[in-house]
Amino acid sequence: MSNIKIHKKEDREEMRKACRLARDVLRFIEPYVKENTTTDELNTLCHNFIVEHGAKSAILNYKGFPTSICTSVNHVVCHGIPGDYRLKSGDIINIDVTVILNGWFGDTSKTFIVGKATKLVENLVKITEEALYVGIHAARPGGYFGDIGKAIQKFVDKYGYSIVRDYCGHGIGRVFHDEPLIVHYDIGKKGAQILPGMFFTIEPMINVGSYKTKVIKDGWSAVTVDKSLSAQFEHTIAVTEDSIEILTI
Ligand code: MF3
Ligand code: CO
Ligand code: CO
Repeated sequence: MSNIKIHKKEDREEMRKACRLARDVLRFIEPYVKENTTTDELNTLCHNFIVEHGAKSAILNYKGFPTSICTSVNHVVCHGIPGDYRLKSGDIINIDVTVILNGWFGDTSKTFIVGKATKLVENLVKITEEALYVGIHAARPGGYFGDIGKAIQKFVDKYGYSIVRDYCGHGIGRVFHDEPLIVHYDIGKKGAQILPGMFFTIEPMINVGSYKTKVIKDGWSAVTVDKSLSAQFEHTIAVTEDSIEILTI
């Protein structure tokens, strides 16, 4: 038996609002993601946007996290802390936004390319975004959570990239991180059944080199052990009676 929360139909409308606001933060910040901007500046802009829209950042003070968004640059896999780093042409940066609106959590992230990037960088970012959609399309009511990682692995293997194992998607709703853990690679298990009323994220992190990660001295930033580039995209999803709905699109 699983403990995965089944939400009421009315709850989906509340989740939509939170998730659309998180999406709007990413749309709002996009023109500022350019050379010479610091990640601190991006954080302040996002923070103010969230507050002005009647919401709160779920990330600020979460287990002591010091800022309102995560900014993960180049070989930073996730949970990068905004600071005085100045973006330069050729960088990639994942911005992860989670808002709380009327008690509901909306979680989404996107990897942006700064200025002009090499073909390899462009390809990693494109394949990572496609991997997210491959995972989403593998999820259906009546299916199993294991279908998601299996599909992503089959897709990513074709390109020779690796899938991060240390960080996963998660159930979400009135809490930030809930059951189940959603793994983005194939562990050869079906997992729990995907049922109408479930809300969860899919957020694959894809590396050019090894899947291995470690947390650096700041206590948060997860980096690739081999310093290879890493990209990530994330959506929050609702399972409906007969389909799935991407809430953060
Ligand atoms: N938004 C991230 C996720 O997708 C979690 C960030 S937690 C933090 O689950 F503490 F690092 F901010
Ligand atoms: Co998430
Ligand atoms: Co997130």
